[in-house]
Amino acid sequence: MSSNGNNGHIPFVDLVTLHQELEEELVSVVRSALRTASFIGGPFVTEFETNFAVFCDAKHCVGVSSGTDAVRFALMAAGVQPGEIVITVPNTFIATTEAISQAGARPEFVDIDERTYNMDPVRLQELLETECSLDRETGRPFHRRLQKTISAVVPVHLYGQMANMDPILGLARRYNLIVVEDACQAHGAEYFSSKENRWCKAGSMGHAAAFSFYPGKNLGACGEGGAVTTNDAEIARKIRMLRDHGQSKKYYHDVEGYNGRLDSIQAGMLSVKLRHLPEWNRKRQEAAHRYNEMLSSVGGIIAPYEPEWSRAVYHLYVIRVEDREGLQKHLADAHIGTGIHYPVALHLQKAYEQLGYRLGDFPVTEKAALEVLSLPMYPQITQEVQEYVIGKIQQFFSKAEVMGPQCRAVAPAV
Ligand SMILES: Cc1ncc(COP(=O)(O)O)c(C=O)c1O
Repeated sequence: MSSNGNNGHIPFVDLVTLHQELEEELVSVVRSALRTASFIGGPFVTEFETNFAVFCDAKHCVGVSSGTDAVRFALMAAGVQPGEIVITVPNTFIATTEAISQAGARPEFVDIDERTYNMDPVRLQELLETECSLDRETGRPFHRRLQKTISAVVPVHLYGQMANMDPILGLARRYNLIVVEDACQAHGAEYFSSKENRWCKAGSMGHAAAFSFYPGKNLGACGEGGAVTTNDAEIARKIRMLRDHGQSKKYYHDVEGYNGRLDSIQAGMLSVKLRHLPEWNRKRQEAAHRYNEMLSSVGGIIAPYEPEWSRAVYHLYVIRVEDREGLQKHLADAHIGTGIHYPVALHLQKAYEQLGYRLGDFPVTEKAALEVLSLPMYPQITQEVQEYVIGKIQQFFSKAEVMGPQCRAVAPAV
């Protein structure tokens, strides 16, 4: 069985094959940068920004140094002030909340939907209606226990699937909230908005959206990188300043900013890869559908759920299983790489002890954190490799049947 040239190992993500396929084009970007000494800003960055804005159906794209900076700059430029609350989910990578804190705000969580693993709009509504009073001056919710104003919400399009944006945007309009999409895992994902009666791209629906180009992402740099997309010219202008030491023109600093630019060589490489992204996303979707079909005959597993309003791009293919550790070990013994996204919910991380959350505060996220397992997923994965992975999963469950019933299908969280 071929395993993508990795000595019999099936990697969780295969970044080697992809870069072998594009090696000549990528090296020519480096050569061109060396010959023109174009390292910061310049045509590579502008060209990528123009093309990525088109890809996302957004009016503007501003390249920045990482996805974390993209979330932070988007919040700051959209108007979040120090001391305010920004709502997000506890089922995300810590960068989401780091960026909120770095913008001077306090993260507050609402639980996720148990099938999509993304923000549950019903929980958001509950928080706004039951724990807040309306501040008549700002039209914004005032959190009574925390004694702070809520100014923004950050829905995270986790695993490559968009959050249920219509109800989230509806609540944001009602409560005058800024919406920054964390689209760091969702380049090219789509959402069918019943309100607009059309499919909308990740990065085009909120006031602004953040993307990461960390190498393993659907669109990844050969190093660090990120971008903000927005339809608001003023937000784009502010982010251009923030990423470049607050300069409106060279050595004229309107505000204190950051060194948060997108590197030119990375931008050039991202332009090369962007041309392949639609095809890569299509291959991920095909691979996901193959997994779904193969898994339909395996009891004990919950496959990813894609609602009718979603076209996910499967940054990750995340299944759920009660004996997650057992299955992960069984696959590791067969040299199959897997991941856990994420093993500890953010509200229970040591870094957030001071926020005072407890086990039980966000039960849907907490249960998912014990059961989610990400299977190998990348555009070049073959049917043969997937059959091998599923075969090993089947083997795990047939062994479990002989040994006892500890691998039952997981019960839904309450
Ligand atoms: C959901 C989410 N938000 C933010 C980030 C931060 O992106 P970066 O690593 O480029 O700073 C990531 C990256 O892993 C992410 O997955």
